[in-house]
Amino acid sequence: MRHAAYVFDAYGTLFDVHAAVRRHAAEAGPDGSLLSDIWRAKQLEYSWTRTLMGAYADFWQLTEQALDFALKKVPSVDPKLRQKLLDAYWRLDCYPEVPAVLKALKAEGARLAILSNGSPDMLRSAVQTNALDQVLDDVFSVDTVRRFKTDPAVYDLVATNWRLYPDAVSFQSSNRWDIAGATKFGFRTVWINRSDQPDEYRDLPPALILPSLEGLLGSA
Ligand code: LAC
Repeated sequence: MRHAAYVFDAYGTLFDVHAAVRRHAAEAGPDGSLLSDIWRAKQLEYSWTRTLMGAYADFWQLTEQALDFALKKVPSVDPKLRQKLLDAYWRLDCYPEVPAVLKALKAEGARLAILSNGSPDMLRSAVQTNALDQVLDDVFSVDTVRRFKTDPAVYDLVATNWRLYPDAVSFQSSNRWDIAGATKFGFRTVWINRSDQPDEYRDLPPALILPSLEGLLGSA
């Protein structure tokens, strides 16, 4: 049996967070991918610390602050690239299989949404850039609750808005820590292990592990 409701993490799952630096790879030089890794790691660190502190700032601000740190940390990358990288992050490419998989699930009658740390504006831009607005029923942003994942209030946005029990929702994320949070909340979870990472949070396992979203179409 396929699921009636599919909810997707945005950054890293639908949208390729490394596409921004890749778009300017020649200008960024050989340390571009190091910069991209630090940028992403700091962005996430800020989301967790700010939630614990109760000092919310939206995800776009965290993205800017994380890039500023990364550019200082990797001085071989020209800091003049800052605005170009931010513009590219605002219009991130999705992974190649995303449009077809979402369309196929939609054609089967499933309800589809994003649940993301992203601010409403940055999510709207990424969705429109990749023409996903036609297939998504909803885009849920943590901005409503002003706490980031893995706070249960975030996952509860879906259950409350869609009036569904958590186990009726299939939640897909490439971020293993996000899968842990969603599993703890009660969603049925699918870890999209795009970069072949080792498993962790073993007490909070996904129902299924797939290398890309394509496997959703063949899975039970
Ligand atoms: C998101 C973060 C996890 O999209 O990237 O919620």
